[in-house]
Amino acid sequence: MKGVVLAGGLGSRLSPLTRITNKHLLPIYDKPMVYYPIECLVKAGIRDVLLVTGGNDAGDFLKLLGNGKKFGLKELHYTYQEGEGGIADALGLARDFADGGKLVVVLGDNIIENNIREGVANFFTQPRGGRIYLKQVHDPERFGVPVFENDRIVRIEEKPSRPQSNYAVIGIYMYDEQVFEWIDGLEPSARGELEITDVNNRYIEQGTMEYDILDGWWTDAGTFDSLLHANKLVAEGGANKVPGENPVSPDREQVTK
Ligand code: DAU
Repeated sequence: MKGVVLAGGLGSRLSPLTRITNKHLLPIYDKPMVYYPIECLVKAGIRDVLLVTGGNDAGDFLKLLGNGKKFGLKELHYTYQEGEGGIADALGLARDFADGGKLVVVLGDNIIENNIREGVANFFTQPRGGRIYLKQVHDPERFGVPVFENDRIVRIEEKPSRPQSNYAVIGIYMYDEQVFEWIDGLEPSARGELEITDVNNRYIEQGTMEYDILDGWWTDAGTFDSLLHANKLVAEGGANKVPGENPVSPDREQVTK
């Protein structure tokens, strides 16, 4: 299976921090933000990754990440999203890279405590469709929120003012090749973006969307409060944990006094 990290968009909610750099290059404790979604994929056994970026500072990703070897990647591919057309618009750029296969997609500002090996293994054996992760949150109105009937998700509502559950759909999505057909059929939402929630709703209508409840903490880092929270969580215990593994960054300098 291949992986995609979506690190486009303008990060305007973090201005002025994002005025002279890309949001995904900002630090989360001891690493740039974009390291976390890449490591999330690597820890799940994915070795072939496409990074979608955008904005004015796209060249800095190449300087920072190079060919991806230090993460244990076989290949790190890059592409560029023009404008801020939404998460589904950014994912649409991965069509040739996917080459008809299944994808694991991670949003560039999402960070999790534990690895996602089990969910990825579940998706590997799933014959078709999509798979998402849910996490209970105290502020569901900030996210995509599932509506349940008898434990089945009947639809997802994007940032609802009156959430129908206290779960968020987190920014880790698994899709088969039909995702590109759904993206082709999307219309921009009221905020002018192609919404990933609309893609997920197509799979739900088709009856091929499965879900897992995420174990361990999850946070995004796209607002001042969530950025601070993400720094605290990672500083306290590390992210993308695999039991028994050393959590030190792949290229962290050895500090000698
Ligand atoms: O964090 C999970 C949430 O992410 C989900 O619960 C929501 O359903 C989903 O819509 C998304 O919500 P946000 O409004 O918080 O997404 P945001 O615009 O902050 O974008 C998240 C990441 O997606 C961003 O760090 C980079 C990538 N992205 C976003 C846009 C708008 C792109 O690559 N291109 C884009 O045009």
